[in-house]
Amino acid sequence: MEIATPIPPRAGTPGRMRMLACALTVLFAPILTASAAPDVAGVWRIDLPKPYGVTLHTFLVLRSDGGRIDGSVYPNNSTEIPIKGGRMEGLDAVFRIDWGWTFRVRPKEDGLDVVINYDGGGKQEALAHRASLAELEAPSVIPAPPLEEVPSNGLARTPPMGWNSWNHFAESVDDKVVRETADAMVSSGMAAAGYQYINIDDTWEGGRDARGNIVSNRKFPDMKSLADYVHARGLKLGIYSSPGFVTCGGYEGSYGHEDQDARTFAGWGIDYLKYDWCSAGRVYADSELRPVYQKMGEALQKCGRPIVFSLCEYGTGDVWKWGTKVGGNLWRTTGDIWDGWDGMAKIGFNQGRLAPYAGPGHWNDPDMLEVGNGGMTPTEYTTHFSLWCLLAAPLMAGNDLRTMSEETRGILTNREVIALDQDALGIQGARVLAENGVEVWTKPLQGGTMAIGVFNRNGTEASGSFTWSQIGRAANPGTVRDLWRHRDIAPGEGGFAGTVPAHGVILLLVK
Ligand code: GLA
Repeated sequence: MEIATPIPPRAGTPGRMRMLACALTVLFAPILTASAAPDVAGVWRIDLPKPYGVTLHTFLVLRSDGGRIDGSVYPNNSTEIPIKGGRMEGLDAVFRIDWGWTFRVRPKEDGLDVVINYDGGGKQEALAHRASLAELEAPSVIPAPPLEEVPSNGLARTPPMGWNSWNHFAESVDDKVVRETADAMVSSGMAAAGYQYINIDDTWEGGRDARGNIVSNRKFPDMKSLADYVHARGLKLGIYSSPGFVTCGGYEGSYGHEDQDARTFAGWGIDYLKYDWCSAGRVYADSELRPVYQKMGEALQKCGRPIVFSLCEYGTGDVWKWGTKVGGNLWRTTGDIWDGWDGMAKIGFNQGRLAPYAGPGHWNDPDMLEVGNGGMTPTEYTTHFSLWCLLAAPLMAGNDLRTMSEETRGILTNREVIALDQDALGIQGARVLAENGVEVWTKPLQGGTMAIGVFNRNGTEASGSFTWSQIGRAANPGTVRDLWRHRDIAPGEGGFAGTVPAHGVILLLVK
C-alpha cells in the first residue's frame, strides 16, 4: 500500500468540519485481530451514498497495542491524517485528528459503530465495514513534467472579484443555487461594484464517462447551459478540481486527465479554475507541487479559452515564489478560513510578509470572504473586508447573496473600499505599526495616494493613532477621507488619532 506523506494539517479546523459534515460522512474503524473478541484494529471503510449519484468513502486504519490506539484516518479517501491520543475507554476506542474531529468507535460483529464529534458543534454517526489495504491504494505515479515557465495568461490584472459556493453552501450547492446567485449578483448591485466570477467549489463532480471525460453529478444537469445562463448576465463561471485522484471532498479529481479536463472546462465555457491539492499529496511528494501545478497551467494555456488559474495548496511549498511560473493568477497562502474572529484575524494579520509577491496578474490569496455568514459581528466583518482590501486579496464573497442583509450588502459593495483592493498598482498593503493590539496598515495607491487602516484587535475599545512620518508622509495632508463613514475629516497637525471599536477599524484615504 502506498501511504504517502500526509500534507501538513491545515489551519482551518472548522472549515474541515464543515467539509466533513457536509461533503462526507466520515468514519472509520477497525479490523480483525487474532483475539476472539471484536477488535478495533484493522482497515475500515465508511460508505456514504449521496442522493445525486455519488458515493464517498472514508477509511480508518487502526492499530491497537494494549490500551493504545494508533493509525490514520483518510477522510473521503483524500488525505492521510494521523490520529492522536488514541486509547481504549471500556469497549470503545477514542481518538482525534487535527481537523478538529474526535472519534469514538465500538466494534461489533458486523462492523464498527463510529461517532464523530466536530469541534465547535456537530456530530456524525455511521457504520464502518472491514476493508482491505488494497482499496486504499493511491494510483501509480505519473511522473511530474520537467520544470518550465508557463507564460502569463494576461488575466486578473487586479485581484479577482466574485463569489464562491464553499463557505456557505459546501455540499448543498447545485444548479439552482448558482443560477439564483448569478441573478442576485446583478440585482444586489454587486456586479456593478465589480464582482464578476460565480465559482462552483467542490461537490459538483460525478465521475467519468466511457471516454474518460469528467461529468457533473445530478446536482448540475448541464454545465454548458449553466455557463450560458451566467454569461448572459454579464458574469463569468468558475469551477473546481484537484491534481489528485479525488478532491478534498472525495469527488473525481483531474489526476491523469489534466489536458482532457481543461478542454472539457473550456467546452463548457468555464472562466476560472480553483485547483486544490488534496489527494495529490498521496501520489506526489510535497516537493513536486510546482511541476504538478505546471501540468494544469500548461493544459489551461492549450485549452483555447482564457481561464483564471487559482492554486489551492494551503500556503505550503513557498508557492508565492513560483506560483506565477506555473501560470497561476492567485495562490492560497493559508489553511481554510472559518467564520469567526480568531480564525479570520489569525489569517489576515499574518499576511504582511508576503506583500512583495503580489502584483497585477498574480495575487496572494488569504482565502474567501466570510462576510455575512453569521459567525462575526458587523464590526468584525467590516474589519475582515477592510483588511482583505488592504491586502489586495481576491474578493470572493462566501455568503448567500440571495438572502443577505442590507448591512452585509453594504459592506460588500462599499465602492470606496473596493477601490483600494482594485487599485491598478496592485501593491499589497503591509503593517507599519503595532502596539497593544492596535495595528496600522498602509497600502500605496496610484497617483501618490495611500490607504491606511487603523485596526483594533482587542476585545475592548482602544485609541489608535499615527504620525505623518510614521506612514511615510512629510506633512499633514489637510483632509483625509473616512471610507466607512464616507466623509472627509481634518486630522491633527502631527498625525491622526481616533477611537477604534473592539475588533474594529478606521479606514482612511490620504490624498
Ligand atoms: C479545501 C479547500 C477549500 C474547499 C474544500 C472543498 O479544504 O481549501 O477552500 O475548496 O477543499 O473540499
